[in-house]
Amino acid sequence: KQPKITVIGSINMDLVTVADVMPAQGETIRGENFRTLPGGKGANQAVAAARLGAEVDMIGKVGDDPFGYALQENLESQGVDTQSVTVESGISSGLANIIVSDNDNRIIIIAGANNRVGTEYIDRFTKQIQASDYVLIQFEIPKSTIEYILELCSSHGVPVIINPAPAMVLEDRFWEMATYITPNDHEAEALFAYNGDNLPKFHDKLIITNGAKGASFYREDERITVAGHKVEVADTTGAGDTFNGALVVALAEGRTVDEAIAFANKAASLSIQKLGAQSGMPLRKEMNDH
Ligand code: RIB
Ligand code: NA
Repeated sequence: KQPKITVIGSINMDLVTVADVMPAQGETIRGENFRTLPGGKGANQAVAAARLGAEVDMIGKVGDDPFGYALQENLESQGVDTQSVTVESGISSGLANIIVSDNDNRIIIIAGANNRVGTEYIDRFTKQIQASDYVLIQFEIPKSTIEYILELCSSHGVPVIINPAPAMVLEDRFWEMATYITPNDHEAEALFAYNGDNLPKFHDKLIITNGAKGASFYREDERITVAGHKVEVADTTGAGDTFNGALVVALAEGRTVDEAIAFANKAASLSIQKLGAQSGMPLRKEMNDH
């Protein structure tokens, strides 16, 4: 059966500038090229899951600018259900200014319409949230909305994954409500006092990603690392999003955590070989050995 996933989160247009090196403070350099590409952690995760064969509902907002309509169309063309993606008037769409250079990317996000994803908006979709096999959230919408979704999911027994990016502190009782929490190693350090080999807070829920090295989870008190793949990197933007989208599909299909992490590592390694967060995200048939 096709798993039913609800992704609640951000939808951004990524303004991607590629340059050989990062400019230093006060410096102007000549870049290589510029693209506008669909992004936003929520949208990226929704597209990753849809491309891998899940039935995906996205809940979010775009602005009433040309980017907003383009972003909505992009989600539809990727097979994501956008009935719960609304155009908010009088505000810009979410934007990400991204500079990609050799072995580096730097991002400034402007929340725009993503900031209007409030608790009353979530209330409109409680039925579809309750009917989901899994809910997936990130931290590019308001904190009060995140807390509300966690309460809603936990009170209805709906499994929920928190991808805590960009890092934001929640009270312990909210972390408790998550089924899994998927920080990268920096976020794990900032949020769960992880130092690379201690037992972090909430370790029983953590799946810690660490780029090409792979990702780790805990069985009892033992950290288990599922190795990643060494590939030619074009752009690591959205690697974590592909990981999360793939992870939720595999878990919703009933795979074990280590199988789900292996599946997610593979999907992420394919996605980083193309420029752009969503470009390069694999279709299910490209995941042949899974
Ligand atoms: O995780 C990558 C995403 O973060 C980009 O697509 C950008 O929009 C920012 O939200
Ligand atoms: Na990519």
